[in-house]
Amino acid sequence: MLKVDALHSYYGRAHILQGIDLSVRAGEVMVLLGRNGAGKSTTMKSLIGLVRPARGSIAFAGQQIAGWPAYRIVRAGMGYVPEERRIFTDLTVMENLETGRRPATDGPAWTPARLFDLFPNLGAMRSRPGGQMSGGEQQMLTIARTLMGNPKLLLLDEPSEGLAPVIVEQMAGAIAALKAEGVTVLLAEQNLHFAARVADRAVVIETGRVVWQGAMADAAQRSDLLHL
Ligand SMILES: Nc1ncnc2c1ncn2[C@@H]1O[C@H](COP(=O)(O)OP(=O)(O)O)[C@@H](O)[C@H]1O
Ligand SMILES: [Mg+2]
Repeated sequence: MLKVDALHSYYGRAHILQGIDLSVRAGEVMVLLGRNGAGKSTTMKSLIGLVRPARGSIAFAGQQIAGWPAYRIVRAGMGYVPEERRIFTDLTVMENLETGRRPATDGPAWTPARLFDLFPNLGAMRSRPGGQMSGGEQQMLTIARTLMGNPKLLLLDEPSEGLAPVIVEQMAGAIAALKAEGVTVLLAEQNLHFAARVADRAVVIETGRVVWQGAMADAAQRSDLLHL
């Protein structure tokens, strides 16, 4: 699905990603673990084309996409949910979902009805303006709207960040349900407990380098990896 080799990215002269290697297999949930500032978001932005990688290769769904503009990478089937939620506050839940609609290239297309099965809260407030939703509901809506684009691979940047514990549990349940639907997910997280709930495999990054990778079940025993 995705194979990244020796990826380097800069902000100006600051060398942030210093050779990231990782792979994501179809149907799995892979988590990028690392402390604040480790380079998780920069990795995601480099994958989706919002940061242009200086060197390295990104093979995605059979194509070499490093250096492509974001719109082309989205069209190739990558979906991205940034750390900051970007819903339209004046549009209703339903209208927000419609803004994300793109045709499916393979498999059944996501519809609002299928998404409401996954995120029951959203179904109950389909006519509510986005601006009148809680942070957790907005986060779910951002994910649902991205799914309306029928991505092959979904990038989720810290979906549990800033959410109350009960909402974090709902989010974990939603990601598990997505996996059961066959969606491939690459997640960035600092929350080891949340990652352990949803991920199959983990890559730990520190100052832009991969320092560990393996099964999430093994990473969960290694809180030293994150210096938590
Ligand atoms: N737009 C930017 N310009 C300059 N430096 C940045 C920018 N965004 C992030 N950085 C720096 O890049 C490093 C990695 O940041 P980031 O990828 O956001 O880490 P994480 O998501 O793991 O917290 C940090 O040192 C951060 O300060
Ligand atoms: Mg980040």
